[in-house]
Amino acid sequence: MNFKRTVLVTGGSGFIGSHLVWSLVAGYPEWRIINLDILDYCCSPRSLDGLENRDNYIFIQGDVCNPQLVNHIFITENIDVIFHLAAKTHVESSFECPSVFQRVNVDGTRVLLDAAHRAPHRPQRFVYVSTDEVYGTSLDEAFDEGCPLRPTNPYAATKAAAEYLVRSYWDKYQFPIIITRSNNIYGPRQFTEKVIPRFLTLLQNNNKCVPHDARRLTRSSCCSTIQGTLAISRHFLFVSDAVQAFLLVLEKGTVGDVYNVGTSVEIPIVQLARELVRMVKNVTESEVNDWIEFVSSRPQVDLRYPIRSEKLQRLGWRAETSWAEGIRQTVKWYQDNPDFWLDVNEDQRIRKEPEKASNT
Ligand SMILES: NC(=O)c1ccc[n+]([C@@H]2O[C@H](COP(=O)([O-])OP(=O)(O)OC[C@H]3O[C@@H](n4cnc5c(N)ncnc54)[C@H](O)[C@@H]3O)[C@@H](O)[C@H]2O)c1
Repeated sequence: MNFKRTVLVTGGSGFIGSHLVWSLVAGYPEWRIINLDILDYCCSPRSLDGLENRDNYIFIQGDVCNPQLVNHIFITENIDVIFHLAAKTHVESSFECPSVFQRVNVDGTRVLLDAAHRAPHRPQRFVYVSTDEVYGTSLDEAFDEGCPLRPTNPYAATKAAAEYLVRSYWDKYQFPIIITRSNNIYGPRQFTEKVIPRFLTLLQNNNKCVPHDARRLTRSSCCSTIQGTLAISRHFLFVSDAVQAFLLVLEKGTVGDVYNVGTSVEIPIVQLARELVRMVKNVTESEVNDWIEFVSSRPQVDLRYPIRSEKLQRLGWRAETSWAEGIRQTVKWYQDNPDFWLDVNEDQRIRKEPEKASNT
């Protein structure tokens, strides 16, 4: 079969990647979609169940940092479009194992860029999926795409470093890159280390809503916790709206540009926990706080990441999914699929990272 385009998605088995791959494979049967993913602890092959036998879908299990593999893909597959999502994404882990984050997020991006720009078949677009966290935190100013990058954790620092690499290929070679910086993305199938699935999973197992450090110390006691002394909030974007933004910048974005993908849905983490308690537990209003454990914050936690998205809106993008609808769908999915992440536990994350780091 002759396909009109070949699209490479890295990290396509992860949370956002799997939604993007589903949209591409199902929505564009005339395009061939290649998913390159190492299948790290945070993703499940079940996220893409049903796609294996589609004519326009190919899965390659492999490491984006492996130049032989990545070069081979670009030499043999005539890649037209790249969506680069493969990354280490968990902020707390990035403080424990920054070298692993540097390897995957920075070196992996360099390997991919280098192979893409040397490929005999020149790609039309290289979309790098970055994060609002590269701006650092802000109490008042909402960041636009021209604001300086001031990342405050190793995860965000490696995403910012990768952005500079991506940009340098535009500056030097006019290689057709586009960068997106999105708010916190949520929805079905997100691994349980991220805040919404973490709280949901804890509550479903009759434990209270605890920050990562505290939970690690009290793993056997199991409780959902809050870094409670500071007014931490996050802007939440439903995953299908993020996917629509990525597809829109592919078609209408200007090469060499950066696009914020933001939402006005800003929710304090304490309010988020209370909302999830109300949705998951059958309790009276006076009992809601009984399901939340307040602990002191780690000193470097970013309070909020407000961004402005007018540039993307001028291309025609709007977040279509309200918070009420997005969180309803998300809660329902975790209630309908309580075993989805059962065979993965976060010990794998802690055990795997030093092993990988020692190989570099
Ligand atoms: N989740 C969010 O809120 C959010 C917001 C903004 C930007 N992003 C960015 O979007 C991208 C995807 O995020 P996510 O939330 O889906 O993360 P995720 O952790 O669910 O998925 C990451 C994927 O990358 C894969 N991967 C990791 N190392 C790899 C390697 N060496 N080679 C190949 N594949 C590898 C993993 O197996 C996994 O499937 C990341 O680049 C992240 O920085 C995420």
